[in-house]
Amino acid sequence: MSLPTHGANPATFLQAIGKKNTKQMIDFSVNTNPLGAPKTLHEKWNDMKEFAFLYPDPEAASLTEKIADHHQVTSEEVLPTNGAAEAFFLVASLFSSQKVAILQPTFVEYEQASHAFGCKIVHIPLDADNGWNWDIKRLKDVLPTVSALWICHPNNPTGVTYQAEQWIELIEAAKKEKTYLIIDEAFIDFVDSHFSFDSFVRTYSHLIVVRSMTKMFNIAGIRLGYVLANSSLIKQLKISQPPWSVNGIAQRAGTICLNETAFVKQTVSYIKKERERVLQQLSDWGFSVSPSVTNYYICSVPKEWESREWLMYLAENGIVARHTENFLFLKGKYLRFAVKTKQENDVLLAVIRKGLDERC
Ligand SMILES: Cc1ncc(COP(=O)(O)O)c(C=O)c1O
Repeated sequence: MSLPTHGANPATFLQAIGKKNTKQMIDFSVNTNPLGAPKTLHEKWNDMKEFAFLYPDPEAASLTEKIADHHQVTSEEVLPTNGAAEAFFLVASLFSSQKVAILQPTFVEYEQASHAFGCKIVHIPLDADNGWNWDIKRLKDVLPTVSALWICHPNNPTGVTYQAEQWIELIEAAKKEKTYLIIDEAFIDFVDSHFSFDSFVRTYSHLIVVRSMTKMFNIAGIRLGYVLANSSLIKQLKISQPPWSVNGIAQRAGTICLNETAFVKQTVSYIKKERERVLQQLSDWGFSVSPSVTNYYICSVPKEWESREWLMYLAENGIVARHTENFLFLKGKYLRFAVKTKQENDVLLAVIRKGLDERC
């Protein structure tokens, strides 16, 4: 039985495990904002849908300006994309046939995109025994041997980020070696008191930051992301981007969402409270959980259960979890769960408790 390669696809997952969708399932494999999209987007929806009938601005000029303002960079340092997913393929094209490194386990698309452009890939393991941290010395040793290093910040699936001082050490070392750092900040907005490398692209020409708007603003279907990088890199990326890649609804939605500071703040504090509560409970029950700072985490499979059995047990009880069979070095020994609403998290905890009581 082969499972879907991404989360957020409950119908395919249930089909793969041979389960009919007979009852309401809660999808813990999707990492978008559990509070939904900002109210303003719903209110403006009727006006926005008019953009479906027009060609979008090919330059996405007003969105580009808005993003530039938001991150205190210039418009020339911004490229809106059809989700972060498009950005990964555009960025990977810069390193066609070259050697790149990826910190693993991580989001599978960096490898996919690098493969698509014939890159040779070096996988660098994260240290599970040290809270899924990186080994900075090993990273610095790899830098001279590769053209680029992909880093997810915070990482998917662990939800972990790395010490600020070590980041600076890494950025400086990469600059010296003329190695590009591709930093995916798709989930950074969920992190309380986060540090971003957004405006660093002004000073460091070897940094490429990718952002997604689909997670925080719950607009996965509209597709919107962007790249922040120095202007000559942005120019190069533009050459490969198909025209009208960012549709008119996405352009408008992005401009609206970037004004939603109160919504972001409310989400961050909600997620923090729920994450701390759920992770504490799971740890108290003896699970190994990743020290996540964002809206998902990985949790070990109870030792009394086989990995697939546990996944199936959860599905039988209305929970879709993200398997980790296609995350390098995890091999299904963990499941990834999103931090969802309090009510949904309570259902998850109750189902897990029942499973433990059945067998442990
Ligand atoms: C770490 C990470 N980056 C980027 C993406 C893709 O984002 P987008 O929906 O903007 O393409 C995902 C999707 O799950 C992700 O997990």
